Amino acid sequence: MTARPSPLVEAYRASHPRSLALWERAARAIPGGITHDIRHLRPFPVYVERGKGPLKWDVDGHEYVDYWMGHGALILGHCYPAVVEAIQLQAARGTHLGGCHELEVRWAEVVSRLVPSAELVRFTMSGTEATHLALRLARAHTGRPRVVKFHGHFHGWHDGVVGGVNPPFDVPLSSGVPGAMLDQVLLCPPNDIKAVDALLERGDVAAVILEPAGGQSGTTPTIPGFLEELRALTTRHGVVLIFDEVITGFRYAPGGAQAYFGVTPDLTTLAKIIAGGLPGGAVTGKRPIMSLLAHRGDPAWDRSERVAHAGTFNANPLSAAAGIATLEAVADGSAQARANKLGEELRRDLADVMKRVGVPGTAFGESSIYHVSFEGRPGLAGFDRPRRQDLYHLLRCGLLLNGVDCSLFHGWVSAVHAQEHLARTVKGYEKALEAMAAEGCFKGM
Ligand SMILES: Cc1ncc(COP(=O)(O)O)c(C=O)c1O
Repeated sequence: MTARPSPLVEAYRASHPRSLALWERAARAIPGGITHDIRHLRPFPVYVERGKGPLKWDVDGHEYVDYWMGHGALILGHCYPAVVEAIQLQAARGTHLGGCHELEVRWAEVVSRLVPSAELVRFTMSGTEATHLALRLARAHTGRPRVVKFHGHFHGWHDGVVGGVNPPFDVPLSSGVPGAMLDQVLLCPPNDIKAVDALLERGDVAAVILEPAGGQSGTTPTIPGFLEELRALTTRHGVVLIFDEVITGFRYAPGGAQAYFGVTPDLTTLAKIIAGGLPGGAVTGKRPIMSLLAHRGDPAWDRSERVAHAGTFNANPLSAAAGIATLEAVADGSAQARANKLGEELRRDLADVMKRVGVPGTAFGESSIYHVSFEGRPGLAGFDRPRRQDLYHLLRCGLLLNGVDCSLFHGWVSAVHAQEHLARTVKGYEKALEAMAAEGCFKGM
């Protein structure tokens, strides 16, 4: 943040008194006042009261066109009628039945039908749990310890994937992770098949995990041909290829990025859209690997060779109900086609606005995701230096003042956004960027 008071921040403060009051209470009750690192916003976040379709409203009565969309979970927007109805129906029948139930079977069946690699499905409660389980499965399957992960790719917050997320890539995302754990993860620049090959030659690699469309929701896009090469290379080395489709699953296509790019991994991790806006995730994949989770009635296997997995709320009936309703609504691909088209228009219009206002950087992305960058487009290896956090925080304040909300670097377009919302969004960006330019934010860049 600039040393002198920013008129934009002052205006933001003045127009969000109730959010400020809640944040002051939150800061006394919750570390840092927030419950997910990515919700950190200077000077304070807005507190949201409700959402409907592509819109949401905060406690101060402001209306926003929403591109957070449940961190990418809500491809059908807030409160999609069929999803609300499914949740309400199930809530009245029980939220946790302490046992197996028909909805989990139907949920697994619809996932198997849509996702090419999904021969079997195991539900988790989040994407983080899904990648954790997928890596465990890969290690059990191969008997090898190490995992190849790419710079700039995000797979949740567990110890096994905190290496190499943000530059500088040799500093893990979090402290508190033992070096012995970090040593199990071999970091690699994205899109560099020769570097992957050299790592697989070591002979101790269980899995290669990646976001198939590129790290951090496609911020560093995967170059054409790389997935095919990776598929061939991992097969040759007997290494498990894991596509982390927490973001791309059911968004790039009903069958996710693997259907969109036509490359089938061994294991796939899913979350967000799969659970229709409720908590949930899954690991899916090839039968021989997934079957490591199954009891066989052989005490030695069941006790010491099987892959263990538990979780009180796995496949809970509410998430299953919301997930089925959502997946059935997006199964024919028309929701994705609509969202993709809007995404393309928005990226083009935002790039135009940035040019017009004279802002360094651009807007880019694929499918129904857009990224706004003050550092230009990433190179093949991604952003190799830390991004200008101060500018992104100021932009978000400016957007919130002008009726738009999104995550710090990107937004997710839903199938229920319309031209009218896009027009408001482009105007909102224009005003926010003009205000930043007037404050001298982009001087010397
Ligand atoms: C690609 C990817 N993998 C895993 C995760 C972690 O998912 P969750 O937040 O459900 O734990 C995320 C979260 O945004 C993600 O983007």
